[in-house]
Amino acid sequence: MIGVFDSGIGGLTVLQWIRQRLPQADLLYLADQAFAPYGAKSSALLQQRCDCIADWLIAQGCTALVVACNTATAHCVDALRDRLAIDIIGVEPGIKPAALGTRSGAIGILATENTLASSRYQQLASRFNPNTRVVNQPCSGLADAIEQGPDSPQIDTILARCTTAMTAAGVDRVVLGCTHYPLVKDRLQGLLGTRVQLIDTGEAIAGEVARRAGAAALGQGTTRLLTTGSLARLKQLISAYPQLCTHFQASQCEAAPPLTSKAQTSGSSSA
Ligand code: DGL
Repeated sequence: MIGVFDSGIGGLTVLQWIRQRLPQADLLYLADQAFAPYGAKSSALLQQRCDCIADWLIAQGCTALVVACNTATAHCVDALRDRLAIDIIGVEPGIKPAALGTRSGAIGILATENTLASSRYQQLASRFNPNTRVVNQPCSGLADAIEQGPDSPQIDTILARCTTAMTAAGVDRVVLGCTHYPLVKDRLQGLLGTRVQLIDTGEAIAGEVARRAGAAALGQGTTRLLTTGSLARLKQLISAYPQLCTHFQASQCEAAPPLTSKAQTSGSSSA
C-alpha cells in the first residue's frame, strides 16, 4: 500500500496521476486539514505533523510514502528519510523543466512562502542561475483560499496579485510549486495568457512513484481518502472541484482518527 499526504486537497492533484499510473496499487491518502495550511507554519511544527502522519500511514501498512506537498517536502523530507526505513518520495517545484524550456529567459515560481524560504528550494533555484531569471512569487493565503472551495472570492484576488510580477518580468513558463495550484490552473492561464506555459509536476511524480514503489504498488486498486478535519467538508470539496470529482468520489472519504507520532513519544524535540 502507498501512503500519500498533504495539508489538504492539494495532494489529490498528485494522487490522481498515481491512481492512473498504478491501477493495482492500494492508495491511502491523508489530508491534514485540521492543521492546514502548511505554508506559513514553523519548520518544527511541520516536522511534528509529518512525523505523526508518516508513522500513522506506516502503522496502517503503507510500505512507500509520497509527500504530496512542496512545503512539507522542502522542510521535512530529509528528516523523514533519515528516520524511516521505507521509500519516501517528495515533490519539488519544476524549475528544471521551466528553465530548460524558456525562450524568454524568465520563469516564474508560484509557491508557499515556506517553500520559497527553505534552503532546499534555494539550492534548487541556484542551479539555474545566472542563465535564467527566476521570479519567486510567494502566494500567501492561496492554498487556504482553495481549501474554502472554488467559489471563494479570495482565489481571484490572490491570483491577480501573484501574477502581476510574472507578467511584468515577461516570463513564459510558470511553475505550480504547490500541489493545490493545479486546482486553479485554468484561472491562472486566463490571467497569464496562452503564451505562458504552466508547469505541473504531478504526472512526473507519479512516474517516479511507479519506478520506486515496487511491491507497495501491488494490491486491489483501492483508494481511501482520510481527513484530520471535517469529513463533510472534504466530501463537499471533492464534488466542487471538477478536476477532483472526475477522479474521486465522496464515498471514498473517511474521517481520520487522532494521530500520534512515535518520533514524539520516543522523546524527539518538537521545539
Ligand atoms: N499543497 C501544499 C504545497 O504543495 C501546501 C499548501 C499549504 O498548506 O499551505 O506546498
